[in-house]
Amino acid sequence: MQELSVRHLLGIKDITPQDIQLIFETADNFKDVLNRPIKKVPSLRDITIANVFFENSTRTRLSFELAEKRLSADTINFSSSGSSVKKGETLLDTVNNILAMKVDMIVMRHSSPGAPHFLSRHIDANIVNAGDGTHEHPTQALLDSFSIREKYGEVAGKKVVIIGDILHSRVALSNIFALQKLGAEVMVCGPITLLPKYIKDLGVKVELDVRKALAWCDVANVLRIQLERQQMKYFPSLREYTLYYGIDKKLLDSLNKEITIMHPGPINRGVELSSDAADSHHSIILNQVENGVAIRMAVLYLLASKG
Ligand code: CP
Repeated sequence: MQELSVRHLLGIKDITPQDIQLIFETADNFKDVLNRPIKKVPSLRDITIANVFFENSTRTRLSFELAEKRLSADTINFSSSGSSVKKGETLLDTVNNILAMKVDMIVMRHSSPGAPHFLSRHIDANIVNAGDGTHEHPTQALLDSFSIREKYGEVAGKKVVIIGDILHSRVALSNIFALQKLGAEVMVCGPITLLPKYIKDLGVKVELDVRKALAWCDVANVLRIQLERQQMKYFPSLREYTLYYGIDKKLLDSLNKEITIMHPGPINRGVELSSDAADSHHSIILNQVENGVAIRMAVLYLLASKG
């Protein structure tokens, strides 16, 4: 049996193109399972997984929990709000107490970049990074590329632009790594103040004009403005951002070509995407969410097989 080159999924940077292909092929099988009347397999029957969330989440938390249930794993859910973290308990103490209850795997979201990497140096359980601050969100990037592969047959050779708040986005960084490892051409587009200074070192094209970016691409992955991570003003107002970078159906129709619109969610409707664009035939946003369950099943299954 083929196996992953890693025993934790901390970031896309650490995994190989072969790892990504193996995750996709495994997810193909799990997607077939999810389309059956009985959506459950016994693959992780003796495994216990803790979903440890120090930051808000809807899609990622529910998707991991459903993936675990579909694999017949036992699951427990920890949310830092209402926990003893509020009494001063450290991250490592919190996780070690959870592991003392005979937990095999940790799925963790944390606001600090590197938090899962730190944990991986101190605990034995497999760790899946469900988003660490502004750093990486590997399962999001995997489900995004899987959705592009599903739509076009392959990711190699596709032109993908990531639009919006690149500076504060873990989705952007993980997507850049995943798309490049799979042979796509990658562009980023946004106000210059929302592009990291090192962006060109990542080997991506940079475009400040959203219309030119859309005219170039096959796929546009549109990101939310992450106001909660912004310590200063990066643009004059949301209204002005929408005026220059907002994507609506009129703009898409004026391109005279078919492009695919993606968004990791949550969407700020009327800011980065209008409702008529988000809900148009261009959009595969809900397919991304659907594919997230199969991708997370694949990741959990393959990591559990590594032990
Ligand atoms: N895409 C994503 O990470 O969404 P949530 O924050 O709702 O998990």
